[in-house]
Amino acid sequence: MPKNTLTVTLANDKTLELPVLKASVGANVVDIQALAKEDLFTFDPGFLATAACESKITYIDGDKGILLHRGYPIEELANHASYLEVCYLLLHGELPTQTEFNTFAKQITQHTMIHQQICNFFNGFRRDAHPMAILMGTVGGLSAFYHEATDIHNPDHRASAACRLIAKIPTIAAMCYKYSIGQPFMPPQNRMNYAENFLNMMFATPSEETMPDPVLAKALDKIFILHADHEQNASTSTVRLVGSTDANPFACIAAGIAALWGPAHGGANEAALNMLEAIGDESNINTYIKRAKDKSDPFRLMGFGHRVYKNYDPRAKVMRDTCYEVLERTGAHDDPLFKVALKLEKIALEDPYFVEKKLYPNVDFYSGITLRALGIPTNMFTVIFALARTSGWISHWIEMLSSDHRIGRPRQLYTGMTQRPFVPMKKR
Ligand code: SDX
Repeated sequence: MPKNTLTVTLANDKTLELPVLKASVGANVVDIQALAKEDLFTFDPGFLATAACESKITYIDGDKGILLHRGYPIEELANHASYLEVCYLLLHGELPTQTEFNTFAKQITQHTMIHQQICNFFNGFRRDAHPMAILMGTVGGLSAFYHEATDIHNPDHRASAACRLIAKIPTIAAMCYKYSIGQPFMPPQNRMNYAENFLNMMFATPSEETMPDPVLAKALDKIFILHADHEQNASTSTVRLVGSTDANPFACIAAGIAALWGPAHGGANEAALNMLEAIGDESNINTYIKRAKDKSDPFRLMGFGHRVYKNYDPRAKVMRDTCYEVLERTGAHDDPLFKVALKLEKIALEDPYFVEKKLYPNVDFYSGITLRALGIPTNMFTVIFALARTSGWISHWIEMLSSDHRIGRPRQLYTGMTQRPFVPMKKR
């Protein structure tokens, strides 16, 4: 990799030439590893300016609102590819030929069933348990079924883990929903495509055969694409950190699910819909805008703002169009929440506070309304996000394990007490 250097002068006037590693596009990075030998650390809470790894999977330009997966713009992938094509692209670096796609899709289809013992996991949960809690526990439990058989240093074993996770996550996700409403689990149907199969496992019952609406299935497939990967976000970084300890891949993905659940991250789609429901009517929007600007009020506009995008999230644009398509198809076009969302977006984008802080709608702003129109309950929204993001998580896990890597072990700025002698209880 072509290098130039950054010169730093230390407190003792010693100068260090730190290599600058060049990106193919976007920010170059300063390799600061030499600082540790000078007993110096960098300080970057929240990792705003820290590249934790090298990657070739996803590129984001937050100022221009660009998102590329292996060089392909998200808009083009969402409008012309299927989710399984994007899974193949994330995993292998290239879009599949028809033959490669058919082989990949067949592998996924043949791994959608889960071991019957896993069905017993669910009975340990209350029926009203949050589906993300059930998903996290059940995916973590998969490590009990494939641990001995998984040598993470074997590329074929890594590929097999990826296939199993992408194939089984929709089955488990649908089971989380069925369990919560007391209906029997529906088995995967090999005759259906990925999104149709998920909708069928969610909404069919043994008493009634259904064939999901292909237009709605296509919309859901697009939602999966929009949520597939997003560079080194909190949950992907979690998967990489857990994976750097050589942990079981199913345990790594369970850790990613845990991180995604937070309302500041993947939980924002559920929180955004709950917020729109709390607003209820356009007449209440200004009250919530005022709260969002009030520093003494912890309330934030859910579905707005992003650590990286300081321009419109390109996924939000596609999500808004998909939302409109689904509302039209389902006859929910007069959904008052959609009207509230459109009005809130307009007001926020004109408000100086949001303009100055570059707070635009993110992918979560419209996804909740769309998922609700598809009949998916609010507490399942982040489960859908986790379902889709599994392909990104496992692609990053494979990329890390296929390249030179070390166990992740950040340091700190210690400002606690310096060493002092123990004080016996009677003298305190
Ligand atoms: C996802 O990282 C990824 O790529 C994530 C994701 C992915 O695909 O993996 O894109 C998915 O997580 C999208 C984000 C979903 N979260 C939300 O919609 C929750 C609401 N958003 C905020 O919590 C916030 O915007 C974050 C967490 C998304 C970003 O936080 P940052 O980058 O740490 O920014 P910040 O909190 O420092 O905010 C900067 C300023 C602050 O004001 P000041 O202290 O500078 O005065 O903007 C304000 C914040 O108070 N601000 C908001 C706001 N978001 C930020 N004010 C009101 N409403 C908001 N939503």
